[in-house]
Amino acid sequence: MRALILAGGKGTRLRPLTVYTPKPIVPLLNRPFLLYQIEILARAGIKDIVLSLSYQPDKIEDLLGDGSDYGINLRFVTEPNPLGTSGAYKFATDAIRETTIVLNGDILTNVDISEIMTFHNEKRSEATIVLAPVEDPSAYGLVETKKNGKVLRFLEKPKPDDLAGQSVKTINAGIYVLEPDILDLIPKNENSSFEYDIFPEILKQSMRFNGFILNRNYWRDLGNPESYLKAHLDFLDGKVKGFENSVKANADVATAAVVDECSIIGEGSIVKPNARIIRSVLGPGVHVEEKALIENSVIWSHSRISSFAEIRNSILGRSCHIGKNVIVNDGAVLGDKTSLPDYSRA
Ligand code: GTP
Repeated sequence: MRALILAGGKGTRLRPLTVYTPKPIVPLLNRPFLLYQIEILARAGIKDIVLSLSYQPDKIEDLLGDGSDYGINLRFVTEPNPLGTSGAYKFATDAIRETTIVLNGDILTNVDISEIMTFHNEKRSEATIVLAPVEDPSAYGLVETKKNGKVLRFLEKPKPDDLAGQSVKTINAGIYVLEPDILDLIPKNENSSFEYDIFPEILKQSMRFNGFILNRNYWRDLGNPESYLKAHLDFLDGKVKGFENSVKANADVATAAVVDECSIIGEGSIVKPNARIIRSVLGPGVHVEEKALIENSVIWSHSRISSFAEIRNSILGRSCHIGKNVIVNDGAVLGDKTSLPDYSRA
């Protein structure tokens, strides 16, 4: 079995962070996000991984190379124009003429991929879709299955009436196992989507289509800034198990600075006396001046936070300059190189 990671989307919801950094390699706890997916695939013995690219492909290729640093064989297939999720899968045909696990490149999960493969094989599925249980599926597409796993229907943005009587509310988790005959359903060189075009077609043709429900695993879609920040906080709170993130960086933290137990300070960062870092992640080379406060936030590399500045529940891109006494508050997302003069409010 091999894997195809769909990593070619423009990541518009995550702008401005994705203007210069394609979504698959935005840092999560100071590691390119795709490495988390590569880690769970490699753990299940899947070493042949194809990355399906379109938006800023060179940045991703340059960073990951041939995969040998991570013990895998990495190949890249780049569409000249974005072809949508299933269009991209079809475009990669030559690289995936066998059972393939397909992952959206923006989901964080610690599921054991081999359990999904076993489920797929035992059911003799032609297509398996992984499903995540959620409390309120109204903003997503609901996927209804029978007790034995058979997929019954897809409901986009379901209304309360549609949900009445449903004990388990599950949504598409963006992970599929597909047999090569699914490729025959997808038009060549045309834009198409699994959700809107291909899954309904699989149902129409009564192919063997089953849903694997994630029960005790962590799952989150990192597609928007709130969710991206939440994924960091979940890690810091110890809610995401199974990844190795404890690489101790060489940082210069003043003895009179306060850095709580869970925060992560990147390589070469400097934290001056009486600065406070609470439940936050600082990238490499970040400078935090005296008496600045950073709380529940993510700061990308080489940003400078001047004295008495306060940053809460926010995300700062690379090389930002935050002046003295600036307040950056709830939900702010600042693009790379943002410069806020002293005393600004954002
Ligand atoms: P938004 O613009 O914020 O919706 O993000 P997105 O462009 O990433 O779209 P979406 O979140 O729906 O995509 C889900 C996954 O499929 C992501 O990992 C994308 O990188 C990937 N993806 C979406 N469209 C394409 C495409 O046309 N080609 C390829 N290769 N991947 C795609």
